[in-house]
Amino acid sequence: MAVEASRRMIKLEIDGLEVAVPAGTTVYQAARAAGIDIPIFCYHDRMPPLGACRMCLVRVEKMPKLAASCTLEAADGMVVDTKGAEVVAAQRAVLELLLANHPLDCPICDKGGECPLQDQTFRYGPARSRFVETKRDFAKPIPLGPLLALDRERCIACWRCVRFGEIVAGDDALKGFERGFASEVGTPHAAPVESKFIGNTMAICPVGALTSRSYRFRARPWDNRPIPSTCTYCGVGCATWLDVRGGKIVRARAREAVGINDVWLCDLGFFGHDYVGSEERLRTPLVRRNGDLGEATWDEALGLLSAWLRYATEGGPGRVAFLGGRRLTNEDAFVAARLFGEVVGTPHLDHRVDAPSGSVGLDVRWGLCTTLEELGQADALVLVGCDITEEYPVVWLRIKAALDRGASLLVLHPGRVEVRRHAVSELVVEHGRLGEAVSLMAGAVEAARTPTLPPQHGAAGPGVGGGTWRDGIAGAAGLLSSSRRPHFIVGRLALDAPDGRATLEACARLSAACGGVVHVARGRGNDFGAQRFGLLPGDGGLDAGGILRAAAAGEIDLLYVAGCDPATAVSDREAWEAARRGVGLLVVHESFMSATAQAADVVLPTLVLPEKGGTVTNIEGRVLPLQPAVKGPGRARGDAEIFALVASRMGATITYGTSDELLDGMRAAVPELAVGEVLPPPPAPAPIGGGEPPAQEPPAQEQGLVLLRVDRLFAAGSMSGRCRGLAGVAGPPHCVVHPSDAARLGVEDGALVELAAGDALLAVVARVGDATLPGQVLLPRGYDALPVNGLPAGADGWTRVALRPLRPRTAPRAEGSP
Ligand code: SF4
Ligand code: SF4
Ligand code: FES
Repeated sequence: MAVEASRRMIKLEIDGLEVAVPAGTTVYQAARAAGIDIPIFCYHDRMPPLGACRMCLVRVEKMPKLAASCTLEAADGMVVDTKGAEVVAAQRAVLELLLANHPLDCPICDKGGECPLQDQTFRYGPARSRFVETKRDFAKPIPLGPLLALDRERCIACWRCVRFGEIVAGDDALKGFERGFASEVGTPHAAPVESKFIGNTMAICPVGALTSRSYRFRARPWDNRPIPSTCTYCGVGCATWLDVRGGKIVRARAREAVGINDVWLCDLGFFGHDYVGSEERLRTPLVRRNGDLGEATWDEALGLLSAWLRYATEGGPGRVAFLGGRRLTNEDAFVAARLFGEVVGTPHLDHRVDAPSGSVGLDVRWGLCTTLEELGQADALVLVGCDITEEYPVVWLRIKAALDRGASLLVLHPGRVEVRRHAVSELVVEHGRLGEAVSLMAGAVEAARTPTLPPQHGAAGPGVGGGTWRDGIAGAAGLLSSSRRPHFIVGRLALDAPDGRATLEACARLSAACGGVVHVARGRGNDFGAQRFGLLPGDGGLDAGGILRAAAAGEIDLLYVAGCDPATAVSDREAWEAARRGVGLLVVHESFMSATAQAADVVLPTLVLPEKGGTVTNIEGRVLPLQPAVKGPGRARGDAEIFALVASRMGATITYGTSDELLDGMRAAVPELAVGEVLPPPPAPAPIGGGEPPAQEPPAQEQGLVLLRVDRLFAAGSMSGRCRGLAGVAGPPHCVVHPSDAARLGVEDGALVELAAGDALLAVVARVGDATLPGQVLLPRGYDALPVNGLPAGADGWTRVALRPLRPRTAPRAEGSP
């Protein structure tokens, strides 16, 4: 039996040492487990062995020739020699051949000092080469997109980078071309590389062939001070090293965290740090005087703020409200919750600024219900309105590994997502009909489990759109019926849709029918810490939408914003504008002159997360550490410090002497708090009884196209837009229109179009493609230059737009744009 075989131990001898390893272990792995070093190039322990480079040759008794230890399975009684003269000669020969064409430009190569080829040559290589012929010469470097540079003559054809794309990321970003001597790495059709994970190929390239365009020639490894940190973009909380030189972060690298990111990062994690050192950072407090924002001292700004706080609370504590949390640490959130909850006494706090009023996302706790490791053990994964590589990219790597072990992927989405080609079942369902689709699937699973009733093979009721996805219901339901414990990952697009409640309830019902688990994949940054540490409405408190409405109605005097940019984040820009006009004082903690800061009366410059110590909470509820990597600019301060200063102006003390004292204070509120550990999971959405959810009819075509605002990993926002390379990868913002709508409306690919909803207009370039369905138009969130929340939704939750061509395509596309 396979299980027993995998547990059986075998014994072999390596360099005279007896080694016991489980059956199935390779000779290389057995040697490594015994502390014996065998040099490698092509082998990487997160991928199956390839046996391409021959660097790991060993002598095995009774075998006629030297063998590659990375592909050779260890066997009982094997006698292996890794250090004998024959092996040493072979190692020298392999290195001599690898170096025959290598440029040996170590002094100017970015890999110098951390290069396996350099290290192995010193340790195992010949002192001199017998090759005197002219070396290969290539134009160098070739940019493979905005982030990646390729120096072809340095490549040793180990294929790690190509196999990373094939095996780990599943994006086939890089390919090997030609054969033998002419082998080289490149991209299909020499186009800019398309990947969200390309930084990993630079990390695992064992030579300086693939390097970072933004880090090139900036530092040597020994110049850098590595600071352990946590990426705080999407909420996965990947472990990183931030390499600091001269007080600036010069690069980020993956730090091994087996339960979270393993050894990988996405490219936001690798390249998303330049904003920290931006010249545009706010350095001093700003106060509005006579209509204009001007520089002020901290004393002036805090004096004005505390006077207003006292004034506002005279009318009752409920005349103050707080919004934000995503960009705060757990400690910041905790101190903010104490300031506003205890000192000011208002119940109106909320971090869920981007959730539209009425979204079912406001009724459930955000985050996974299991650890990421458990998710990766699933035998079936169902993505419901979740574009996983755009929203939680490193979670995709875990899902991909699960698929390689035999798990099944099902995708239900109102468009085509990148990972669809890995799915056994893809249902492209019109926006607003995901609930109907999941409900039908639940019905089919329930019927199949009720012996007296025949299975309802795709027996969709009237009103099911187009018949395109209906046919897939029975197959998908059958697959789920036979799986052990399917994991349903319900994304923001599903939750915030007009049928979000129906979708979530149907997922809970389907999950109950097949013994699965439902995850609410909602939230970014430290939304999860804000949720756990008190930035939610208190008793009788208003949620974010309610706060905006109350502010617009003149019921809030002072609106305090920290760790978010509501002007761009809220789903309805006009609701925000009305709110900010309705309050007496708008106070904002900001690092850049965001749209919210521009409208504020008091702007307090804050440190960004890589400048802070403390902790954040990731999507699984795990508490992760932050360390200050660099100092903040000018007179910027940490958010918790500012909240504590405000409290002291109000006559209260919420300062903590040390970070340990602060952690102790937080533990009083959240007793399970321990750095590195997962806080108790949020309750799963409760399954509801049978019955079909109420139909949410999408608008008829003559009412306009249905607008879907979608998350994009790369978008030129306030942080990533200030990072070299990332803005290039994001490209200019564009909407996506289906070819049938484009033909009907006379829109060419690349043309400038106008989207109109009510009186609101938005001009944007249109791309024509099948990433969307007919009748829908996709618009990316996250671009500062594209205020997608300016197009309002109707009372029924649908945003309908009229799309009109303005100009045909004229401008060339920017490098890296899709
Ligand atoms: Fe290997 Fe680097 Fe060449 Fe890719 S570019 S094949 S990782 S040496
Ligand atoms: Fe950062 Fe998320 Fe990417 Fe991890 S997956 S590196 S947390 S953006
Ligand atoms: Fe074994 Fe390359 S490391 S052949």
